[in-house]
Amino acid sequence: MDYSIESTPLEKLQCDCLIAGVFADKSLSPAAQQLDILTHGLIARLVERGDVTGETGEALLINAVPNSKIERILLAGLGKKEALNGKNYRKTLAAAINSLKKLPIKDVVCALAENPVSGCDLTWKIRQIAEVFGDAAYQFTQLKSDKTLECKVEQTRMLAPEAEFDAAGLGLRQGRAIADAINLTKHMADLPGNVCTPTYLAEQAIAVGKKSAKTTVEILEEEDMEALGMGSFLSVTRGSRQPAKLICLNYQGGEKNAKPVVLVGKGLTFDAGGISLKPGPGMDEMKYDMCGGAAVIGTLQAVAQLELPLNVIGLVPASENLPDGNANKPGDIWTSMSGKTIEILNTDAEGRLILCDTLTYAERFNPDAVIDLATLTGACLVALGRVPSGLLGNDDELCNALIRASEIAVDSVWRLPLWEEYQELLKSNFADMANIGGKDAGTITAACFLSRFTENVRWAHLDIAGTAWRTGLTKGATGRPVPLLCQYLLDRVN
Ligand code: BES
Ligand code: MN
Ligand code: ZN
Repeated sequence: MDYSIESTPLEKLQCDCLIAGVFADKSLSPAAQQLDILTHGLIARLVERGDVTGETGEALLINAVPNSKIERILLAGLGKKEALNGKNYRKTLAAAINSLKKLPIKDVVCALAENPVSGCDLTWKIRQIAEVFGDAAYQFTQLKSDKTLECKVEQTRMLAPEAEFDAAGLGLRQGRAIADAINLTKHMADLPGNVCTPTYLAEQAIAVGKKSAKTTVEILEEEDMEALGMGSFLSVTRGSRQPAKLICLNYQGGEKNAKPVVLVGKGLTFDAGGISLKPGPGMDEMKYDMCGGAAVIGTLQAVAQLELPLNVIGLVPASENLPDGNANKPGDIWTSMSGKTIEILNTDAEGRLILCDTLTYAERFNPDAVIDLATLTGACLVALGRVPSGLLGNDDELCNALIRASEIAVDSVWRLPLWEEYQELLKSNFADMANIGGKDAGTITAACFLSRFTENVRWAHLDIAGTAWRTGLTKGATGRPVPLLCQYLLDRVN
């Protein structure tokens, strides 16, 4: 999808469809008012008749507009004026673009950014149009014979007053970069495990690196990890015939000696559970166990596209977790890169095993902050469902910055406690720690495990098990938490 900004007056505008807003008190947005004049009262008549209520999420298509170069008008409900916040604005945008699916509409003009959204400026409002429309237009067709897209929209033009083109242009640039990053993330995630292997993920990272002069990519092979002493990470890949990779993206956009932010994403390209095999139903969804890694690669693409004046490192431990004669067994003990020993009581708790060595490796970049993102625990779904990502960490300032960013990005998180009382659940009789903490507080004990490898750094952990993909009829990747991470990094610039 292409995005652009313009200030063309409506009487001169040509497009397949113009999107304008109506409020729940039946008042028209400025663009809708103008359209009403141009159409000699058509819009007001529809409102009077009750065809338009203006409720959030309503979308009424007027698919013929006499004597106009605007082929269609979509009236989008903005809800109650005083209730128009970021979340509702995004709902309106989503309902609008989704209602245009299947129609022969290629060229859309969106006039919704003119409406006041509480706490949000024009830059944000423009950015969200790109994010939401890009999200709606995405469809995984690569492995279908019929590759026709439901959403035919190729171009989204956003209206903004010329006097505010600076602010709007910034929103456009950010929106495009974030929308592209979400798309890339979703595509890697939706690919099946037989295509999206650790090697494939590494190739994607290399391709992202090639697009930016400030990004270098290094792929550590199993022998490199061996030399580093990554016994924990390597134990997970023992049962797999695909070589594991530790993907390192390095974006140097800031001062040479400015401390970087390190993003670490779990890249388990298929998690069968290993010898502690998962039950069959829904196991296909474990192709999504690399969503954290994909989001790191996507975020690094966005950061490079935006040329942010920051140093950002992306680390993606990539592996499969499969049962095999050579696979990890319950009771096995391995020495991690940190020197700490780990007793594997459940081979399905593999994410933390690949992450812990990567977190130790992250230390060598002398990071200002480390943020890991992982589809780490089913328990996170039990605790929080599919609305927020779980957030845990050892630094209040970092956690609060992430909470603030999540609110702006409308990519929510909810913080869980990481109190030391939970640490004892990881006790092992035979090693420094066990890799599971029993049935209670699974999301917290997983984070407790990781916290033992991040003692020297400001660190936050995002459990994205409930937010990285949708299940059921609309099964598919969401691209979360790319919007949150991009917002956090944008906030760091200012
Ligand atoms: N990738 C899974 C977590 C997961 C499960 C995410 C379902 C989304 C949906 C992870 O590797 C895992 O298997 N975790 C175990 C941990 C347990 C053995 C302590 C889990 O959650 O069951
Ligand atoms: Mn697992
Ligand atoms: Zn897993």
